[in-house]
Amino acid sequence: MSGQTMGNDGANMNMGSSEENFPVRKGGWYQRFEDGAEEGAGARDRSELAAQVFANLRVGESVLDVGCAEGYFCFDAMRRGAGHVVGLDKKSSRIEAAVYMQKFKTQDVDFINQNFMEIDPANLGSFDYVICLNVIHHIGDTVAMVGKLMSVAKRYLVLEIPDLTELAARTTLGRWGRIFSLLPIRYQPPVMVLGQNKSIYIAPKAMESMLKLRHGPRIKNIKITPTYHSRKMSRYLLVASLKEK
Ligand SMILES: C[S@@+](CC[C@H](N)C(=O)[O-])C[C@H]1O[C@@H](n2cnc3c(N)ncnc32)[C@H](O)[C@@H]1O
Repeated sequence: MSGQTMGNDGANMNMGSSEENFPVRKGGWYQRFEDGAEEGAGARDRSELAAQVFANLRVGESVLDVGCAEGYFCFDAMRRGAGHVVGLDKKSSRIEAAVYMQKFKTQDVDFINQNFMEIDPANLGSFDYVICLNVIHHIGDTVAMVGKLMSVAKRYLVLEIPDLTELAARTTLGRWGRIFSLLPIRYQPPVMVLGQNKSIYIAPKAMESMLKLRHGPRIKNIKITPTYHSRKMSRYLLVASLKEK
């Protein structure tokens, strides 16, 4: 289904081809593009992270990006020589923006507008490289989400996750956030459960333990490195190299 875009109802999404279709989104785009085509001043530069994410990608490999937003990493994977690339996001406005950006690229990405948690992995197939960046903290059932990602991953699973320093910056935890981030705990702060933001903060060691506990026979190696998010908040990149099923 190369270059096709599937909506929630499974129908192809035809975005047209003129400038009038520029997809404006409340809050702006999440990702910034080299040509400045994105909308909104808050869009993030993801170029440095992309080099970290795709450090092990081989030419011709297939890539699945879960929570792809405007498709920055999908296009970047193509640029690095990936074969079949699929970007999936549950928000139609994000997929509309990704389809818009597709017009400026020479290679086709398949974009799917669907909730990953509702997808049957058997229909999706499996991919050499599965990336899921800044999504897991929005999903209530971390174990189920990681299990599903593992079920479609062949060679690598790459996750970006907010560190507990982010929790510290967003709440009054202060320097305790740094101490908590060293502990193997999965911490769901009541202030966020009760308040505005239901994000789940998972310490790197907790993520690593969970992966090894649940998927030990498939894990060859796990590498965790910090990533930059903002002056006050850090995140981490977890790269799990996998034994094929
Ligand atoms: C914070 S943005 C991160 C975008 C991109 N991965 C990046 O790091 O640049 C999270 C994205 O994940 C999408 N998302 C969240 N839950 C999802 C789910 N269950 N299935 C598919 N997409 C999801 C959101 O719509 C949003 O576009």
